[in-house]
Amino acid sequence: QWTTASIVEEQVARIREQIGDEGRAICALSGGVDSAVAGALVQRAIGDRLTCVFVDHGLLRQGERTQVERDFVAATGVNLVTVDARERFLDALAGVTDPEQKRKIIGREFIRVFEQAERDLKAQGDYRFLVQGTLYPDVVESGGGTGAANIKSHHNVGGLPEDLQFELVEPLRLLFKDEVRRVGLELGLPETIVHRQPFPGPGLGIRIIGEVTADRLETLRAADAIAREELTAAGLDRDIWQCPVVLLADVRSVGVQGDGRTYGHPVVLRPVSSEDAMTADWTRLPYDVLERISTRITNEVPEVNRVVLDVTSKPPGTIEWE
Ligand code: XMP
Repeated sequence: QWTTASIVEEQVARIREQIGDEGRAICALSGGVDSAVAGALVQRAIGDRLTCVFVDHGLLRQGERTQVERDFVAATGVNLVTVDARERFLDALAGVTDPEQKRKIIGREFIRVFEQAERDLKAQGDYRFLVQGTLYPDVVESGGGTGAANIKSHHNVGGLPEDLQFELVEPLRLLFKDEVRRVGLELGLPETIVHRQPFPGPGLGIRIIGEVTADRLETLRAADAIAREELTAAGLDRDIWQCPVVLLADVRSVGVQGDGRTYGHPVVLRPVSSEDAMTADWTRLPYDVLERISTRITNEVPEVNRVVLDVTSKPPGTIEWE
């Protein structure tokens, strides 16, 4: 009978054994559950010989950087280096509208930024180990199954190139997601991190249909924050798998507000229910919740004058629009 406490104890012992008394490790945090729990476990094992690296690519949602910089650090006491790479990503994405192109650029830039951070750290000490939040299902999936056809190249920001000169530490390799969440709670991580819904590595970059610009990111971030706030307030976080908010940046429609005509952009709400993201159904959200989200977004986000609901299952739709 494995209790969560005994899983933690066992993993901490294994990590200590692998890394030894002198070794140093780097962990790339994405803001998601897996890298956070893996990082927290390793920090429990080797303390300040672990350094976490968090890349702010500017495609994050409201509050996500704070969650890492303040809440994760407060809960674990971990050494954290944040790399502010917002300009670099925006520059690299300028003029790009093709979804796969966006993913490639974001993945590539992420690796470059991380490699620079790695060189900076290695100049300070002998960092030989790299922590990865690989879960059991990831291990099984990459172990020869045919997997899904390549519909989208899923760049897990945090998915690093193989020629990085590191020995991998993967303390979640034998665990499923629900176990990882329990371990996270056991380690004292905040609920907001432990129960975070899936969020794609390329972030808001693939939720702006059209070119990604700083202004558009602002707009989408504001609309997304409202939708999330209302879903949380309605107690629906555990009922939905995730609810992307998508900005149709190249579409405009006419509206009326106060006594003026508006010509703004629509946002799409894409609430889905799913077991594993391979298939999904659109979630029947209560009308009053939809109404609150719609009213608040159109009142509070000046660039948005229309909120529409995506009622497509997967298949034929994918969860994300890009
Ligand atoms: P789709 O849109 O393919 O999404 O139905 C399935 C799940 O994967 C997430 N997703 C991504 N995650 N990098 C990621 O790390 C990506 O490029 C990416 N694209 C989609 C999506 O949020 C959903 O949970």
